[in-house]
Amino acid sequence: MVGLRIDSARLQSQIDALASISEAPAPVVTRILFSDADLKARASVKSICRELGLSIREDAIGNIFARWLGSSPKLAPAATGSHIDAIPNAGRYDGVVGVLGALEAFRALKQAGFEPKRSLELIIFTAEEPPRFGIGCLGSRLLAGALSLSKANALRDREGHDLNYWRQRAGLGKQNIDSVRLPKNRYSAFVELHIEQGALLEKERIPIGVVEKIAAPSTLRVQLTGIGGHAGTVLMPNRRDALLAGAEIALAVERAACTTGSPDTVATTGVFRIEPGAVNSVPCRAWLEIDLRDTRLQTRDAALKRIEIAIQKICRRRRIQFKLEKLNADSPAICAPSLVNTVTRVCGELRVGAKRMISRAYHDSLFMAQICPTTMIFIPCRGGVSHRPDEYSSPAQIKTGVQVLAHTLAKLSAEGSSSQSAH
Ligand code: GLV
Ligand code: MN
Ligand code: MN
Repeated sequence: MVGLRIDSARLQSQIDALASISEAPAPVVTRILFSDADLKARASVKSICRELGLSIREDAIGNIFARWLGSSPKLAPAATGSHIDAIPNAGRYDGVVGVLGALEAFRALKQAGFEPKRSLELIIFTAEEPPRFGIGCLGSRLLAGALSLSKANALRDREGHDLNYWRQRAGLGKQNIDSVRLPKNRYSAFVELHIEQGALLEKERIPIGVVEKIAAPSTLRVQLTGIGGHAGTVLMPNRRDALLAGAEIALAVERAACTTGSPDTVATTGVFRIEPGAVNSVPCRAWLEIDLRDTRLQTRDAALKRIEIAIQKICRRRRIQFKLEKLNADSPAICAPSLVNTVTRVCGELRVGAKRMISRAYHDSLFMAQICPTTMIFIPCRGGVSHRPDEYSSPAQIKTGVQVLAHTLAKLSAEGSSSQSAH
């Protein structure tokens, strides 16, 4: 099956068309969970799935499953997928390459006359990105049973709306959310195609990364309540300024990440909002969201502890009330060595250079790895830039990733069945 015809031009035009469905003007892509843009983008991708003759199921959280039925439908399907939601001020490739690229892989396999033995399934995960509820990988987390229903039901967005409010709005209200969880080994394998979001592949001029491990992310949400007042009349010794406590906390977060002794610890205070937000008014409330990650759990957790202690100290000294929520503190994922070998072998057969690597970004694969053998295929992106409108991978780089994905899926769909080879 060497020489599958991947239609780069069609794929690029689909990527561009999806990018135009955004809450913000081009080149910015913003598609927050269940916003109008997100709903429109889902509809658009589902219509491509239908064109390809895939059968579609949508679960109670909006994860979309598009299946190409195999000739041995009782075998666990091999799956691929990613996400199409996007953080504010994002680009067009993060997640999308793994969704539209998988559909192009399916199309190329169909065109080559390939018939899967195991079914092949594309999963479009709900809310891989965290902006709505502060927690990432909502769909895959629930699917893997890594988020309890009580925690899911307690999630609130900025306006105080919960998951059920948004599910109703998305037309998913009738289904029960506890039906989302899937049993272990529902899938024989999961492989996610994604841009690297780092600069290693580009620097080393290697077209494919095969992911062996995914770093451990965690998120804190801090609500600070001080006392507001008139900027001219409340004298400095009497201030209980929520913003200043937040500013000290943000610096403590930076310090915690810089002093673990590990270059792999990274921390970001990516959300910092204040009220009332008037130049002549002392800030009475502040909200911070803090993202902290490391490839090693122990190091990440030690930094997390230091941040929690710093928050207590700063708030005591500044007489600020605080509410601290640990939204998530996940373990790293170890990818399945057999699957990493399969992808590496495919790269060898296609004469495509490949390198094994760690993913410092998180992905739905972090949670799929808890229920089935999982790995990821990375392609380079320009300058390692991601989560910005100038994120870019070339059509040729994407095409190579889709080739590798298509051949990997072909192998996986033939594995474990009576016939040794489906092509
Ligand atoms: C995923 O978007 C991440 O923040 O790693
Ligand atoms: Mn992202
Ligand atoms: Mn992503």
